[in-house]
Amino acid sequence: MAVCNTKSVFANGLKYEEDFFEFSKEDDFFSLLEHRRSVRRFKPKALAKDEIDKILHGLSHAPHGDSHHHVELTVINSREKIMEALPLMSQFYDKLAKWLHNPFMRTMIKLKKGKDTINTLQNHLLPRIEKGIYKEFTYEYDGITRGAHSLIIFHAHKNSEEHKEDSYILVTYATLAAQALGLGSTIIGLVPAALNKSNELKSMFNIPLDHDVVVSLILGYPKYKYHRGIKRKLKNIHWIN
Ligand SMILES: Cc1cc2nc3c(=O)[nH]c(=O)nc-3n(C[C@H](O)[C@H](O)[C@H](O)COP(=O)(O)O)c2cc1C
Repeated sequence: MAVCNTKSVFANGLKYEEDFFEFSKEDDFFSLLEHRRSVRRFKPKALAKDEIDKILHGLSHAPHGDSHHHVELTVINSREKIMEALPLMSQFYDKLAKWLHNPFMRTMIKLKKGKDTINTLQNHLLPRIEKGIYKEFTYEYDGITRGAHSLIIFHAHKNSEEHKEDSYILVTYATLAAQALGLGSTIIGLVPAALNKSNELKSMFNIPLDHDVVVSLILGYPKYKYHRGIKRKLKNIHWIN
């Protein structure tokens, strides 16, 4: 509904009048924030290097937790290289599905990752794995990297300070920098989860084995344009004056 120019598409009982807003015509930072949405369909070509360089330059201004950045970035600007990794990522998700059906492994994951994570894995991820969403990949599309030709992976030595917080700040900056350039992006949590469990995958992207992969971002030229935004509210705002 957000991409349909003529308002002819309907989904999930949503209403154009109640659930969406028209984008502001201003050309300012708040309009940029309004326009940013995850983009999961791209034109089939890699980004130009100077566009990636502009994004990376933008990231260099991001706040960080220590006196300098510990986070390293691996930029993969090749659909072929991404496709090489997809079968291994898919195998990891098959293995994860088996673990989630095994009571002992489930308890271990719960102890290590917490109750919230196990709930997300079981309620959100497992049904998608079992539908085969992460198994089918063609040059044009896949359920993990969405057919993207460009992928940035954010990682750091596992003992470095505040690298997780810094990585999330960097990736958020990257989504906005991409938006400012008219590019599309989506933060992808599926990639780091697989990479952290596979030395083979890390090696494929020359990521040191003692690095913690925190997050990743797919990027590309958007195939569709968003014509309106979807209304959302922050959960709670507590004012103390
Ligand atoms: C930490 C994190 C991990 C995410 N992982 C994925 C992912 O693996 N696949 C995906 O399609 N989207 C992923 N997303 C994107 C969210 O689904 C998306 O931001 C959210 O639904 C809000 O939609 P919007 O970005 O269009 O506003 C992730 C977002 C965050 C912040």
